[in-house]
Amino acid sequence: MTLPMVVPDQDLPPRVRIHEVGARDGLQNEKSTVPTEVKAEFVRRLADAGLTTIEATSFVHPKWVPQLADAEQLFPRISDLPVDLPVLVPNERGLDRALALGARRVAVFASATESFAKANLNRTVDEALAMFEPVVGRAKAEGGHVRGYLSMCFGDPWEGAVPVAQVVRVCRALVDMGCDELSLGDTIGVATPGHVSALLTELNEAGVPTTSLGVHFHDTYGQALANTLAALRHGVTTVDASAGGLGGCPYAKSATGNLATEDLVWMLQGLGIDTGVDLGRLVATSVWMADHLGRPSPSRTVRALSHQEQ
Ligand code: HMG
Ligand code: MG
Repeated sequence: MTLPMVVPDQDLPPRVRIHEVGARDGLQNEKSTVPTEVKAEFVRRLADAGLTTIEATSFVHPKWVPQLADAEQLFPRISDLPVDLPVLVPNERGLDRALALGARRVAVFASATESFAKANLNRTVDEALAMFEPVVGRAKAEGGHVRGYLSMCFGDPWEGAVPVAQVVRVCRALVDMGCDELSLGDTIGVATPGHVSALLTELNEAGVPTTSLGVHFHDTYGQALANTLAALRHGVTTVDASAGGLGGCPYAKSATGNLATEDLVWMLQGLGIDTGVDLGRLVATSVWMADHLGRPSPSRTVRALSHQEQ
């Protein structure tokens, strides 16, 4: 298999942790619901490819996201894997469901804009934060690890460009609540590298440590890799990506797939940055999943490397 030539860049971190979201952000947006056995096999293959943080599913209302309504059936089938399997929980009901299955890594998901808070959580921004407060408190008291997602950090389909100060305020609230890490979401993929840089600089100045930040780029306008590189230059070492570029968001119609994990791994390998991921196994997994979904992966790297094998 072709691999990129390695030319390290001394200004970048030596290692990046990939937070794989294909099984959650990817599959939540599929028109058809993928059978539980196929999801379990997908997560197992991702672990086998070397991914160590694999977001597994969401304990949300099944009517809101029917594609993930099998969370109770899926989680026990994969919980033996020696990897972190974070799950999304919007409220205490979701947390109860996750804790009952032994999940200890959870993620709440806030919005920087009122429109998306309403569409995604049926709450205002501040009502959603109030809903998360007991979730974070109880998860931490159980010895858990809490990620705080923040959606619409750059642009919003209803409100347009999102002021940086608005994003910083909600980030601060999530950190003050006790979240261990934040993930900055470009839910509809409109960010460009200068905007990413500006937000990271403001967050730094507001006292949010870069070490607690991850980035979550959707690739609608083909900017996800460029935005990732801008974030790495700021010292970010956690990057969300989705195998094969699966993804989107059911409550933000203009969102397309996440940054493809394969495209990310190709770039990081070329930069000499360690991820622990076996690119060949990952590509094979995405080709296998694309067959199940009945359409080719949108990832350029998956296409290039799988065509080579034929
Ligand atoms: P609501 O209708 O306001 O719910 O929805 P409620 O609190 O009024 O409760 C209504 C009923 O739902 C009650 O049942 C609750 O028990 C039940 P009843 O008493 O009427 O029989 N209920 C639940 N059942 C199961 N599990 C639960 C749960 N919660 C309540 N957890 C709610 C509010 C938050 C529940 C709803 O809006 C919801 O589930 N939203 C989830 C939306 C979602 O998952 N979106 C995708 C993830 S976010 C994303 O993709 C962005 C991200 O990738 C980053 C980025 O790209 O920006 C993370
Ligand atoms: Mg997303």
